[in-house]
Amino acid sequence: KVALFITSGFSLSALSSCTSPQSTLAGAGLEASQVEHLFWIMLVGAVVIWFITIGLSIYATKVRPGRHSEKTGTRLIVWGGAVFPTVVLTALLVYGLALMPEFRAEADGPMIAVSGERFWFRVAYDVEGEPGVVKSLPPGGVESANEIWLPVGRRTELLLGSPDVVHSFWVPSIAGKMDMIPGRVNRLVVEPTKEGVFNGVCTEFCGDAHGQMGFRVIVVSEEAYAAYVEAQNKPADVTSGPGHDAFMQNGCDACHAVRGTEANGAVGPDLTHLGSRLTIAAGLLENTPENVAEFIRATEHVKQGVEMPSYGILPDEEIIAIAAWLEQLK
Ligand code: CUA
Repeated sequence: KVALFITSGFSLSALSSCTSPQSTLAGAGLEASQVEHLFWIMLVGAVVIWFITIGLSIYATKVRPGRHSEKTGTRLIVWGGAVFPTVVLTALLVYGLALMPEFRAEADGPMIAVSGERFWFRVAYDVEGEPGVVKSLPPGGVESANEIWLPVGRRTELLLGSPDVVHSFWVPSIAGKMDMIPGRVNRLVVEPTKEGVFNGVCTEFCGDAHGQMGFRVIVVSEEAYAAYVEAQNKPADVTSGPGHDAFMQNGCDACHAVRGTEANGAVGPDLTHLGSRLTIAAGLLENTPENVAEFIRATEHVKQGVEMPSYGILPDEEIIAIAAWLEQLK
């Protein structure tokens, strides 16, 4: 009884998370929905088999112990122990394999490159041609970070890579997992079926901040997607002021690019339209001027293991000015 109580407690808590933006049980993409379907079939099958096995065990040991012939026992082993599992497992294997061609179908949407960095995601829209093998991102493209916009109902091709260590790309509600491996490009075709905001995570241990390496997937209509990429392609709208000056004077431009200004660093995330993003620090914090300032002031404290050093030595009014400027970049 205690075991049953604990088990049902676990099941309830697992099912209660169904509506979360990071649930595998709330399919919002073709691949995730198929996997979810397969999961439910296997779960129901497992429950039925569990009851049959336990029922037979109780029957044989408690209800009618020692009343069966050796022949009955042998028959049970052959049919229950060999024939039944072979048939069930073969059926599941065939069903699972039959799903594969659907996942492999050609893309008919845009091509987006996503590179796993330590510890964030570099995203480039409208990339063209074959990506280089060593550099994980193809040349060109409209760069952003930690946020992947996708058009609903289209099969978008994601080119996944990494410049140094292995990461893994997973959006539980939509598709994945797929490793992001240095020196090669893995292709993942995703087909989101519902509009909304979903969580993605890195699922391969990649260093100290692995646990805080996430992103958002924003699924919108095709028109909204096109408008988004066009807006991201534009240079920054505010290219002067105290925040801009403090950003340049303190060397932030050595690592970050803000298109339309002289900042063209390629080490950290492109900040050209930071103000338009939902989160900062790879999905860790809500995007507010206070959080941006806190991230600059106490980087290592906010996100342990992050590559960017803390800039707490700067006067606070400079930090606040930089945060205010970045938030203006919509
Ligand atoms: Cu990147 Cu774990």
